[in-house]
Amino acid sequence: MAPRYLTPNSQDGSVRVLQLTDCHLFADPNRDLLGVKTSESMDAVIDAVLEQNFDFDFVAVTGDLSQDYSLRSYEHFAQKIARLQKPVFFLPGNHDDGPLMYRIFDKLGVNIAKNVITPKWQYIFLNSEVYAVAHGWILRDQLDYAAYCAHRSPSQHVCILVHHLPLLVGSRWLDTQTMHNSDEFNTYIHRINNVRAIVSGHIHQEYDETIRDVRYIATPSTSIQFTPRSVNFSLDYLSPGWRYLTFKPDGSIDTTVYRLPKDQFSPYTDVEGY
Ligand SMILES: [Fe+2]
Repeated sequence: MAPRYLTPNSQDGSVRVLQLTDCHLFADPNRDLLGVKTSESMDAVIDAVLEQNFDFDFVAVTGDLSQDYSLRSYEHFAQKIARLQKPVFFLPGNHDDGPLMYRIFDKLGVNIAKNVITPKWQYIFLNSEVYAVAHGWILRDQLDYAAYCAHRSPSQHVCILVHHLPLLVGSRWLDTQTMHNSDEFNTYIHRINNVRAIVSGHIHQEYDETIRDVRYIATPSTSIQFTPRSVNFSLDYLSPGWRYLTFKPDGSIDTTVYRLPKDQFSPYTDVEGY
């Protein structure tokens, strides 16, 4: 698939990105996920983003757009995200139907390009989804594709986006759902020139760590939040959130997480899984 070329709005070549992740929308917008109406929480996040007036160049959505794999949930997603009036790129998560998304999103105004190239940075959207299971697995052809993109455009810093954060986060239940071949992923991407960042979803919490000069970032969900370092499944009281990232020409990244005001979208607390 052809890459998408994009000129950032900034003077210095910095690329500004809004990351939204784990929207978990249903075909029926009135349904809730463990007490949170995911349609309403995503609308509230988009309202807050529009109020902030942050001048981002594109939206990156890092998987689990749907909770029920339905066409209708993707139509809802496309309608909601169109309010931002920016290019939107995505990758599938474990709650998504990847093949369906790639078939329909173009017609719904969501970009299906997997490689976004700007003068100073390029973005590679990989698929770690395994059909009908929660954990992730990266196929060799995905890694080869990342290497191919980096080789094809060698003068840009590289940001790889993938649903499953390829690291353990010290949470026993959530770590069983990690990318199961993360060693292979990390070994491979550290050999690709210019990889500066891995940006993920899936863990429904804020994460930011640098390992061997690569920044690993994950972001709160626009719906429910998981409690960091919990042994068993546990929902956090923190509100739905989003992240802005500024990718600078020198290869560094500034980033900030924002959340909705407290107590607007409180989940049930007595549940054991989802
Ligand atoms: Fe998720």
